[in-house]
Amino acid sequence: MHYTLCDLFSDLTQNAVEAGADFVKVRMEAGASAVSLAIEDNGKGMSPDELARATDPFYTDGVKHPGRKIGLGIPFLIQTAESTGGFWKIESAKAGESDKPGTRVECRFDLTNIDTPPTGDVPGFFRHVLTFDGRYEMEIAYRKEGQGGSGTVEFTVLRSELLEALGLAEEGGFYDANAIVLLGQFIESLMEE
Ligand SMILES: Nc1ncnc2c1ncn2[C@@H]1O[C@H](COP(=O)(O)OP(=O)(O)O)[C@@H](O)[C@H]1O
Ligand SMILES: [Mg+2]
Repeated sequence: MHYTLCDLFSDLTQNAVEAGADFVKVRMEAGASAVSLAIEDNGKGMSPDELARATDPFYTDGVKHPGRKIGLGIPFLIQTAESTGGFWKIESAKAGESDKPGTRVECRFDLTNIDTPPTGDVPGFFRHVLTFDGRYEMEIAYRKEGQGGSGTVEFTVLRSELLEALGLAEEGGFYDANAIVLLGQFIESLMEE
């Protein structure tokens, strides 16, 4: 299977959850010729030095994935964006260094560039990031620009609302196969025009 933009977006969103964030905001805008994504988290953040290392393709903290010597998410983001006329930006601050600690990753990809990976499975991406382990709130905002004034899709949904809707507020996560299937169906229904 080829690595899609949605695979990349999942990896970047996983970083936010792994950074200990209890609030992660994911915003995706899909147009006919470009797709953009912004991920904002209130996790542990990175110092300027850590950010410089994270954007170096040969760096990983060596703790999260013992045995793997290079980071995947951020270097792929940079390499993919820079080789396809896309855009990327990462801003980050540690607690105490800013009144709004955490990390913000923004990117945009040109879908008309033949080297841009395919977008991939958007509802699958949303489902995947909602099922990461941990107690965290996540806001997913999606907008797909229709063509010629029709077919626009737009929604904003919270992870806690989805847990509530599926009767899983107590569990606090989508942990069994049945819950994940129901979550997938719920997301598919939100994506309908
Ligand atoms: N949202 C984030 N918040 C805090 N630290 C982050 C975030 N994203 C990435 N990092 C740091 O940058 C490093 C590199 O990230 P990444 O390229 O995805 O590789 P990996 O996750 O495999 O280590 C991470 O190990 C982590 O220390
Ligand atoms: Mg990662």
